Amino acid sequence: MSANVLVAYGTTNGSTARIAETVADVLRKEGLTVRTAPAATVSDVTGYDAVLVGGALYAGRWHKDARRFVRRNRRALQERPVWLFSSGPLDPSASERDIPPAPAVRRTMLRLDARDHVTFGGCLEEGAKGRIARMILRNGKGGDFRDFPRIEAWAAGVAADIAADTNSQGLSQPITLPEP
Ligand SMILES: Cc1cc2nc3c(=O)[nH]c(=O)nc-3n(C[C@H](O)[C@H](O)[C@H](O)COP(=O)(O)O)c2cc1C
Repeated sequence: MSANVLVAYGTTNGSTARIAETVADVLRKEGLTVRTAPAATVSDVTGYDAVLVGGALYAGRWHKDARRFVRRNRRALQERPVWLFSSGPLDPSASERDIPPAPAVRRTMLRLDARDHVTFGGCLEEGAKGRIARMILRNGKGGDFRDFPRIEAWAAGVAADIAADTNSQGLSQPITLPEP
């Protein structure tokens, strides 16, 4: 039986959703059963063996849907393996070095005893919502800094960890014992 994994995300302009889908595709290729969903639409995580939560960064904080998701499901998240990711920087910095979680995301990480957190580059393109977004774009500071090979590599690491957990809990293939 393959592990059942949720990838929940908080997004305003959709670029974090695409990161979540990329992560999910890698997990599926590794044989896991994966659902991706906007964090605001998930009310219960108890049916999942592992949960990944991603949030776009706005003004130094995780997207509110990601924050509320964690608050709503805190107890259940503490009882299962959890990985976190953020997406934000509108420059190549996230591809060049590890960017630590924003302070509140770090607290979430500690509270949930999350296995890992990673910051991926963000994306801001024409049509993004909001006055500040339009101002950033007018100033030529937008662009797509999502590094898909890096996202896929991180997801492959998560898949390996989940597989290791699954095997150690005997959830993978049932072992057939020889007849006495
Ligand atoms: C108003 C505004 C505030 C932002 N604040 C941050 C920030 O504090 N840190 C950061 O790394 N990126 C910041 N960004 C960049 C976004 O995180 C980036 O565009 C991200 O990819 C958006 O994700 P989404 O398309 O899923 O909403 C900000 C963008 C906007 C428009």
